[in-house]
Amino acid sequence: MSQPLPFVIDPAGADRHAEYRALRALGPATPVDVLGLRAWAVSDPALLKSLLMSPDVSKNGRAHYPAFARTIRTWPLALWIEVQSMLTAYGADHRRLRRMVAPALSARRVAELKPTIRSLVTELIDDLATVPPGHVVDLRERLAYPLPIAVIGHLMGVPEEQRDDFRQIVDNVFDSTLTPEQAQANAARLFEVTDQLIAIKRGDPGDDMTSLLIAARDEESGGDGFTDVELRDTMILMINAGYETTVNVIDQAVFAMLTSPEQLDLVRTGRAAWEDVVEETLRAEPAIKYLPLRFAVTDLELPDGQIIAAGDPILAAYGAANRDPDWHGPDADTFDVTRKVKDHLAFGHGVHFCLGAPLARLEVAEALRQLFERFPAMSLAAPAATLRPMPTLISNGHQELPVRLRPLA
Ligand code: HEM
Repeated sequence: MSQPLPFVIDPAGADRHAEYRALRALGPATPVDVLGLRAWAVSDPALLKSLLMSPDVSKNGRAHYPAFARTIRTWPLALWIEVQSMLTAYGADHRRLRRMVAPALSARRVAELKPTIRSLVTELIDDLATVPPGHVVDLRERLAYPLPIAVIGHLMGVPEEQRDDFRQIVDNVFDSTLTPEQAQANAARLFEVTDQLIAIKRGDPGDDMTSLLIAARDEESGGDGFTDVELRDTMILMINAGYETTVNVIDQAVFAMLTSPEQLDLVRTGRAAWEDVVEETLRAEPAIKYLPLRFAVTDLELPDGQIIAAGDPILAAYGAANRDPDWHGPDADTFDVTRKVKDHLAFGHGVHFCLGAPLARLEVAEALRQLFERFPAMSLAAPAATLRPMPTLISNGHQELPVRLRPLA
């Protein structure tokens, strides 16, 4: 009997909400086509959480995906499984690689960064204040991108002159409409620019995380350190995670506030906090819609009797899970900052839970607070329905976010 054709995940992400609904209707886990690769999309929150916690599910394709070698030659998102960092590590290797970075992103270290983040936001807002009333600005370009780039640039010690290079390359890492050749050329450029950064910092170390990671690599020749590839790929993970995701949360939060004035009013009148806006944005519009890929280590029998066979790829469908009505009620599709149950999977779950969550939350809340304080009459400068989504199945933002900061007098 021939297999039913799997559901195709749209690489251009044209209508994510329809896609989430379709996936949930197909069941807790359903076969999908991700750019020609067959995987199980898991959209049921309980099942997804249990798979993310299971030692029988791995992110290490080298060890647990029989088609790994072929896939990294031909699949446009190959980089997502090819890199060798905590993102793709399993078991003891994962713990080793995560341990090297975790202290630098602890709640205490992030709290210490607060004054720096506050003044970076103020600088960007001061710059926005020079825009004449009535003029249209793209808030992604003027705030959503520059802030996380400055913060991760500061944390990692990325020189100013390298930041634009990284920006373009990182955008491409998330773009799922590139051909395999374009994606490979982009990956080669990413390796090159990251190697340059490591060389700069090796020659001239500073008080930054790159220098710390290099020291860990150079000092620990024995079992507990980094290989050269792991060092490079950890840098790549940090810069990618730090650049792209936070941008989209700022974008989606501002969009939600400008299109739901009653929600903005709840914050303005003290009935909700900016932190509530951040959490509801992460739930309703998670910056990572789908995360490629995980692999079954053994055959996995699901509660509905389906079997995910050993070696099968698994796609975490975070966007669909976050809007599940069994989890968030019949109004799961409504943006509601007063929601009692604030849980979501925007930062993942289990051993790979996002290390940057405290930093991202702080950045977005601070950006929103200062932006809406300074420009209380800000409005969207285009009909909401005309804003185009980024061409990606992974991340979740608009191509532009045109706003009028102040009306014409
Ligand atoms: C709002 C912004 C962010 C979102 C929505 C986000 C989301 C995520 C998600 C979903 C994962 C889990 C991936 C998986 O399923 O395995 C993850 C992992 C990770 N994130 Fe974030 N992230 C954000 C910001 C950041 C920032 C600012 C940093 C660093 C400064 C960061 C560093 C990491 C790292 C290192 C991992 C890998 C953890 C591991 O594999 O053990 N993230 N992030």
